[in-house]
Amino acid sequence: MAPSSTPTIDIESLGLDQGALLLIRRALAERPVGGELQVRGRSPDWEMHLQAWCRSQGHPLRFETVDGLPQARITRGPHAEGRWRDAQATGTALGGINGTPADDAEASWGLAARGATVEAGSPGFFFALHRRHELWAATAGDLYRQAAAAQWDPATAIEWGAEFSLAPAIEAAVVQVMTYLIENENAALLVPARHLGQIHPHYREVLQLLALQCADEARHVEVFTRRATLRGHEPALSTAGGQASLRTLFDAPDFSVATFLLAVLGEGSFVNLLNFLQANAPDPVTRQIARLTARDEARHVAFGMAHLEYRLSVQPDYQSKLRNAIEVRYDALASTAGLNEEVFDALVLLAAGELSPNAIARGHAAVQQLQRDMAAGRRARLARLGFDRDEAERLSALHTRNFM
Ligand SMILES: [Fe+2]
Ligand SMILES: [Fe+2]
Repeated sequence: MAPSSTPTIDIESLGLDQGALLLIRRALAERPVGGELQVRGRSPDWEMHLQAWCRSQGHPLRFETVDGLPQARITRGPHAEGRWRDAQATGTALGGINGTPADDAEASWGLAARGATVEAGSPGFFFALHRRHELWAATAGDLYRQAAAAQWDPATAIEWGAEFSLAPAIEAAVVQVMTYLIENENAALLVPARHLGQIHPHYREVLQLLALQCADEARHVEVFTRRATLRGHEPALSTAGGQASLRTLFDAPDFSVATFLLAVLGEGSFVNLLNFLQANAPDPVTRQIARLTARDEARHVAFGMAHLEYRLSVQPDYQSKLRNAIEVRYDALASTAGLNEEVFDALVLLAAGELSPNAIARGHAAVQQLQRDMAAGRRARLARLGFDRDEAERLSALHTRNFM
């Protein structure tokens, strides 16, 4: 018989159950549907095993005799065609493990790696957040890498044994501020965590970043708790007004609105608060804690801004949703007290460092300046999201008096 141009592999004496099937599968995968592959072999019963496998996979098979020996001729069957699909976008500029993810992640991609080939028949998973514009940020991958590199260990990053001595009233003020911070950190952990489980894993970078953000908040809860109780005190007061403000974050209608209220407005204001504590706290432990937590919060704000900038770039009319969210929240909280007096007074005392009128005047001025800094920061971020000056000013002023 004349030599054939059909690709041929020789599995020699290797049995199909000894790895020969791997060679056959790989060679066949390189053939188009309808294309042929010739296989030679010598192991006992290889023809029978090949027949059974080809039948199960839907590849037509026939045997010929070449030089007195049996030779298989496999035609790649059409079944293989619909059996696999890629868990990545099919659009032109999209796809690949590191490329921009798809506009819409399919339920049938499930938990597969982005870009993986997913076998048909894999179970579907429902993720409420499966559309890119609802969760994506262009810088999510960079922010994740920054967050991974910036993780710190509360046990060693803070000098818990640093010596200091505060008047009882000042220590009590620190405990009150820590108590306030802890409940805000609990919200900052739980609000993103509730959305995290709803995100399609195709959007890997956002998932990873939010997971680290939750880890950041877990550390913040730890260090504020540890400082509150460092001198043997119990946590102090938690008020209805403070919790009512945080409650509205749990009621936000979607991930973008929650991120806007929590990260852009709340955590943005918290960066100012933590900077204030870093500059004004009366003891070195509180100042160190404030420095480390402020750095993490700045990243949380950066993601919030990047997500909303992305969403507004593809859906400009979403701005009215953001405006509406601030107004609805303001109305919901209009009858509550906002920042409780105890926290306000504690911030003044903490910045004063002692109870003399001069020191209190200084502390009071510092807290006034803090509130101006917070408002200016909110206005600047709202302006970056496209609100004009007057509107940014108006909306910033409607922000919760609880700061978060
Ligand atoms: Fe935090
Ligand atoms: Fe945060």
